Amino acid sequence: MLSGGRRPAICVTDAGFSKFAESARALGWQVFRHDDGLIEENRELVALVMLDDESAAAGARVLFQHALFAAMSADSDADLCVPATADTEQIRQLLRHSEGHWRRNLKVTQLATEVGIRRQRLRQLSDIGAQLSTHVNLDALLDTILTESRNIANCEGGSLYLADRTGEEPTLVFKLAQNDAFVVPFVEARLPMTSASIAGYVATSGEELNIADVYSLEPGLPFRFNRSFEDKMGYRTSSMLVMPMRDHRQEVVGVLQFVNRRDRSGKLVDFDQEIVEVLRALAGQAAISIQRSALVRNINELFEGFVRASVKTIEHRDPSTSGHSFRVAESTVQLIQLLPQSNNSRFRGLVLSSEALREIRYAALLHDFGKIGVREEVLLKANKLSGDRLEVLRYRFELQRERLRRRAVEKELHLLHHNAMDIEVARRRVHRDLEKQLSLLDDYWVSVVRANKPNLLEDGDFQHLIEIREERFLDLDGTITGLIDDHDLLALSVRRGSLTPTERREIESHVVHTREFLSVLPWPTELSAIPAIAGAHHERLDGSGYPDGLIGEQIPLAARVMAVCDIFDALTAMDRPYKSAISSSQAASILQDEARRGLIDQDIVDIFLEARLHESLMKVVNG
Ligand SMILES: [Fe+2]
Ligand SMILES: [Fe+2]
Repeated sequence: MLSGGRRPAICVTDAGFSKFAESARALGWQVFRHDDGLIEENRELVALVMLDDESAAAGARVLFQHALFAAMSADSDADLCVPATADTEQIRQLLRHSEGHWRRNLKVTQLATEVGIRRQRLRQLSDIGAQLSTHVNLDALLDTILTESRNIANCEGGSLYLADRTGEEPTLVFKLAQNDAFVVPFVEARLPMTSASIAGYVATSGEELNIADVYSLEPGLPFRFNRSFEDKMGYRTSSMLVMPMRDHRQEVVGVLQFVNRRDRSGKLVDFDQEIVEVLRALAGQAAISIQRSALVRNINELFEGFVRASVKTIEHRDPSTSGHSFRVAESTVQLIQLLPQSNNSRFRGLVLSSEALREIRYAALLHDFGKIGVREEVLLKANKLSGDRLEVLRYRFELQRERLRRRAVEKELHLLHHNAMDIEVARRRVHRDLEKQLSLLDDYWVSVVRANKPNLLEDGDFQHLIEIREERFLDLDGTITGLIDDHDLLALSVRRGSLTPTERREIESHVVHTREFLSVLPWPTELSAIPAIAGAHHERLDGSGYPDGLIGEQIPLAARVMAVCDIFDALTAMDRPYKSAISSSQAASILQDEARRGLIDQDIVDIFLEARLHESLMKVVNG
């Protein structure tokens, strides 16, 4: 605090100092006796203390920190020794010297206090900066910005607006209001970004407004203060500081409005230059944090959009898997969150942050994306032979029949031309042979059609297939092959399912494609495990899975959880070209069986079934 127009005081400890007291009074000083009750509250004014022989300076120095100490005895520990014979002029000199000393001391104290306050504000600013940089959630960030800036400036109330330029007309979104004097009945609202309102004016002009009293605004200003709210609440705003929050391109991203700044004693005070500068620095930090939060949100939305588009692309190729990825993602996230809540001690320490859950969800959504790299005829293959190949075989069989018939006719003609004996007997034999051969061909065809289905192949059918391959067939280019060729035999000989070993490997390669595709994407650190999780959904605990044959704990936990949900959904979802859907209870027994055989995690299957996740999944599947 400044000594300003204040007058100094003298403190005398003895009546013997009366001529000092008189000279001081003559100069406009106050005079206190050391035992005066008033001295306590005026001790800062004391510029000179006159000590008698008995008084020691040490105790008094603590009390009168800005004063000089004088005594008549040379033995005293005072600053100055004044002779008892000192005349009026000498005493006045002493008083002037003391006053100079006192004023300098007051100034030094005041500067030290200011330096302390600035240092504290700098510390607060850097603490706030650190706090702001940790927030990703926008609402929490805005709350911190307003609360901390009000704290630093000691303001009773404040509001925060964000600029929204995404619509046709720019608007200000009233995001937050705080006031220590009453509970603000806050509702988020939008107002046009025009200079008609105080916040709008600051947002559009980029100017700061430092208003001493909003009820005494100068006439002619484009904006006015809307007092309807205050009238309703019985509140009175006087001083107001409104400042824009600008990003690095100097674009206004929002407006901070502070009202009723108070000093330590609670008295209303203006927003001085120093606090304006502090709040300006804070507004700059706030703008950067708001923009960073918006960028993070944009990136997340971009990822979300990209993931959804990728899932749609896979499902477009194979409509029978429609919804599979979304259901697996949903159930995997639900199931993994149930693990730490279960009684199983294995999962007690499992902590799942929101980032970890997002990572798992994206991995599950994209787990089958690699199917994009599998040929469609393999991906959608319903039977062992493709439709085209079966058609070719049907023509070959028909051609073979025609050839047999033609040969029989030729034989009859030959009999007629050569007037053979017993021609009728010979013709009947030709017919009989033809019927037999045609019937055998029919049998062959039935075997081919039956073997073509993805059901279990009978041994008898397999023998038939070998015979059919041995049946000679003259191809159109003159080469002799079997009625079915080696490739047909290989495909039809698959004992279960519709895929040859090569085709099965091609389907299985989707996991490798998934992992390779996802590894190319620049995932942020918190999502960096997505390729590893998604790429391990076909690994099995005993090492029999693919692509890497990982064992037990080598498989990420999220992938083990996903495997359970993936198997269940694949079994129960709508019919696929290559297999029919089965009931929820049948699928549950298959899961139990696979867990017993050590392929998937028994504990995770138990939690899945106990939580009846399979039933809620079925409801989703059946719409
Ligand atoms: Fe898969
Ligand atoms: Fe899948």
